Amino acid sequence: MKQIHSRKFCVAPMMGYTTPYARKLYRILSKNTFLFTEMIATKTLINSKKRDLIIENEDHNPVALQVGGSNLNDLKKSSRIANEYNYDEINLNVGCPSKAVQKGSFGACLMQDKKLVRQCLESLQNKHIETSMKCRIGLGKNFNYDYFEEFIDEVLKSGIKIIYVHARNAILGGISPKANRTIPPLNYEFVNKIKTKYPKITFILNGGIDSFDKAINLSENYDGIMLGRLVQNNPFLLKKIDEVFYGGNDNVESDEKIISSYFNYIRPKLGQETIFRLLSPILNIFFGIPNSKKFRIKINYYLKNNNLDLIEDQFMKFVVDQKFVGN
Ligand SMILES: Cc1cc2nc3c(=O)[nH]c(=O)nc-3n(C[C@H](O)[C@H](O)[C@H](O)COP(=O)(O)O)c2cc1C
Repeated sequence: MKQIHSRKFCVAPMMGYTTPYARKLYRILSKNTFLFTEMIATKTLINSKKRDLIIENEDHNPVALQVGGSNLNDLKKSSRIANEYNYDEINLNVGCPSKAVQKGSFGACLMQDKKLVRQCLESLQNKHIETSMKCRIGLGKNFNYDYFEEFIDEVLKSGIKIIYVHARNAILGGISPKANRTIPPLNYEFVNKIKTKYPKITFILNGGIDSFDKAINLSENYDGIMLGRLVQNNPFLLKKIDEVFYGGNDNVESDEKIISSYFNYIRPKLGQETIFRLLSPILNIFFGIPNSKKFRIKINYYLKNNNLDLIEDQFMKFVVDQKFVGN
């Protein structure tokens, strides 16, 4: 039986970043935010001996597993795996423009073959969890609403009900994935228009939501919003989400408690995972904070010695000293 979850506020899939550790941190900070894994190629998901580590889901729910692939059999298997690991949703990546991904025939280049995307989504469908897609609004340098609408018309025949739209085109040659997140202009209007055509489909807006105020304002006009880089650089902003987006929660834990919960979670993992990957999600709490340099210098030093207790100590001192409130 599929569970119903709100996707009013989602954290975007980010490769190399939305690891199980980041998701755990996000879950400590917010109970309701809808989370994503990073994109995982179906072949990796099916064959990797490290699968337990890659897609670990220790009560990160509500959470979606994002896959990249276009082999229908592999997609079917991936969907079963997502269910076995207690994911709430399986999501197809139709937005990544990297060369490697194009070589593997997945990501944004799939927008050129809408029938194949429909088949992929049909293969992912399973009766236990939701199937969804994350796509761009088009390909190349020019806007073409008809192209986007025809693409959505076709993929909706698969029966999916949730689409995350990174509201800019993907440019498949000549610019890097990073540049593909800034150079093609945003166009939220395409999402408004498609929503008018399909009022019963959930369209989640993604791309360029770079302040908390913008997030609040946009959330009033869309089914939900998805944020990537703002959360990546500023994870503690998630502390406000349950209250602002999900109707109140006066049980927000203190910063010290949050740090302590997170370190208690990562401590037993030290041996099976590098200290840097374990700490990477939380290191960004220093981003843009004046006077954080002395803490960062000490942490870098303790990182070399793998000394988690002394590192935790520095984080504690930092949040106490700064009376960190997340912004
Ligand atoms: C480091 C990084 C890695 C990303 N990896 C993925 C990914 O694995 N799958 C995906 O669909 N999008 C990926 N994206 C794109 C984001 O999901 C999102 O669409 C994009 O960053 C725009 O949202 P933002 O402006 O809120 O950051 C990535 C973005 C970043 C910054």
